[in-house]
Amino acid sequence: MDILTQDNTSFNNAPIGVFDSGFGGLTVAREIMRALPHESIVYVGDTARCPYGPRDLSEVDGFVQQIGSWLVDRGVKMVVIACNTATAAGLANAQRNLPVPVIGVVEPGARAAAMVTRNRKVGVIATKGTVESNAYSKAIRHIDAGITVFSTATPRFVEIAELGIRMSDGPIESFWSEMSKVYIRPEFEEIARDYLEPLRRCGVDTLVLGCTHYPLLKALIGGVVGREVVLVSSAQEAARDVAEILARRGASACPDREPEHEFFTTGDDVAEFRDFGGRVLGMNMGEVEHLDLP
Ligand code: DGL
Repeated sequence: MDILTQDNTSFNNAPIGVFDSGFGGLTVAREIMRALPHESIVYVGDTARCPYGPRDLSEVDGFVQQIGSWLVDRGVKMVVIACNTATAAGLANAQRNLPVPVIGVVEPGARAAAMVTRNRKVGVIATKGTVESNAYSKAIRHIDAGITVFSTATPRFVEIAELGIRMSDGPIESFWSEMSKVYIRPEFEEIARDYLEPLRRCGVDTLVLGCTHYPLLKALIGGVVGREVVLVSSAQEAARDVAEILARRGASACPDREPEHEFFTTGDDVAEFRDFGGRVLGMNMGEVEHLDLP
């Protein structure tokens, strides 16, 4: 093997960096693992500073640049910002500053919604930070200016998603299924109705789950808005973007490669992250390391 091939091979087999404010971004990592089974992932859950949603976007931008640089120092070949709030706050700066391709989750979700809607009325639910940034409205209307976007901040859904994981130890698929019973509880349904009833009345036929925690709540959300409303999440579309960028750059991992994933949390409770994360990912995470970020 000549030096050039050797270099290419080690670059191609370098991991993809993925991060979120906690374990929500594992919903995106999971789709990347499914779509690209030979790719390795370095995942950072910034649990110590979670939630990002209520924070100032400039503060979250600082977190994005810090974690992005840490991932680049660790040798990743691309970075996926697997958090909507962090994407809204820091994608543009990360793309300017980091020497590897960087994608977020807003544009893939917006694209999926624009493709799916028939009546061109799209709802978006997300954290306060994401909604106030208008990132989804801009991205959707950039694709099709004729689409009307109705956005609502639904911050308590982050709390509910985490509570459900704490309360249940059922098989992982049940969290994701529209038939799941994990989140069907009167107190959750009441909060969901308060948030979603106005969107239902607007007649949206597509609802973007604009936070990486929300795919876990499909059954709860679908039950309120009606099964005819299509629930769109960014995870699959983002995984497709990763595949396309790597293929276009000739940077995909060798097809005989066994992936080696690494997981880090900035939080103190590594065992809890490992437990929750394993349930979101649907696999044993192996070792999870604590990461200290100043
Ligand atoms: N993962 C974040 C997002 O997608 C939500 C959780 C948080 O507020 O940190 O927006």
